[in-house]
Amino acid sequence: MVAAVRVHKTGGPEVLTYEDTDIPAPGQGQIKMKTHAAGINFIDCYFRNGSYPSPVGLPFTAGNESAGEVIEVGPGVTDLKKGDRVAFVGPLGGYAAERIVPAERAVKLPDNITYEQAGAMMLKGMTVQYLVNRTFKVGKGSIVLMHAAAGGVGLILCQWANHLGATVIGTVGSKEKAELAKANGCHHTILYRNEDFVAKVKEITSGKMCDAVYDGVGKDTFPSSLDCLHPLGYFVSFGSASGQIDGFNINLLQTKGSLFATRPTLNHYVAKRDDLVASANDLFDKVGSGAVKIPVNQTYKLKDAQKAHKDLEGRGTTGASILVP
Ligand SMILES: NC(=O)c1ccc[n+]([C@@H]2O[C@H](COP(=O)([O-])OP(=O)(O)OC[C@H]3O[C@@H](n4cnc5c(N)ncnc54)[C@H](OP(=O)(O)O)[C@@H]3O)[C@@H](O)[C@H]2O)c1
Repeated sequence: MVAAVRVHKTGGPEVLTYEDTDIPAPGQGQIKMKTHAAGINFIDCYFRNGSYPSPVGLPFTAGNESAGEVIEVGPGVTDLKKGDRVAFVGPLGGYAAERIVPAERAVKLPDNITYEQAGAMMLKGMTVQYLVNRTFKVGKGSIVLMHAAAGGVGLILCQWANHLGATVIGTVGSKEKAELAKANGCHHTILYRNEDFVAKVKEITSGKMCDAVYDGVGKDTFPSSLDCLHPLGYFVSFGSASGQIDGFNINLLQTKGSLFATRPTLNHYVAKRDDLVASANDLFDKVGSGAVKIPVNQTYKLKDAQKAHKDLEGRGTTGASILVP
């Protein structure tokens, strides 16, 4: 039996239950991993509260990202062995001291990446990797707006887009978060709880507006995010921390300037093994070279997962958060 955080019924943070669970031997093509760090992500809240249905039904072990060492390999696994350092994004099951995972989804960790970094960055970092390279290609001279710029995805995207030569504008919920975003590559910050962020974007860009808006806030920033774009700009709606956008009228894209809109998700961008490995390697390069730092600003014990979710949903965190067994 090993410690795990399980969800027996969907709901608020209180449904996260710390308990012992059985971990079987790894089956065909599987490995057993001892967890060293599990990432905490907003998607964990969507599964916990039922806005994303669990693919394995109820109960399930929470968590979509973790890093650790291989402690047992199942039949048919040839490219991993006991002692290898690995990380995973999905499937569910990250919040556990040990877990069974398909070897095919493992990414081997380079020596210069710690378990804590890997647990904190694989999901958020590979998300940024596709957002700035594949969803909209950020380059020298691009102007991008990142909502919740001091958050987990936010701080990584600010650094990465800055590194690629963009002017980065970020919205943040407090002055402290503004300072943090600025220290992580964000050129201009907007306190969107008090300021009209469309007017501020207009002022900052001298009316040029943005090439792309990266919006993981959702309901509260819609449809104003569209007004931050110039004609033919990209609205990248990649999350809904404030709630889902309902009733999106596609005609808005025409009236607001023949805009492009997409609602991407990491799973589709790394579904093929080659894409997973390429994305992870690009992330390892950026972190290894120091171009992108991974601020692990909150570390919780596995048993404190409820508090971790309350803090994340209560806008009380910055950068990345991890759980350690
Ligand atoms: N599509 C994908 O592939 C993908 C992958 C990873 C993450 N995501 C999305 O990216 C977003 C950020 O994820 P994260 O894990 O890095 O979280 P996070 O940004 O660390 O936390 C969410 C932040 O959103 C802001 N926010 C604004 N309104 C909020 C509200 N009503 N309730 C809670 N927070 C609110 C808060 O920042 P302020 O206080 O500064 O406003 C809060 O800190 C989420 O929407 C997540 O679903 C998408």
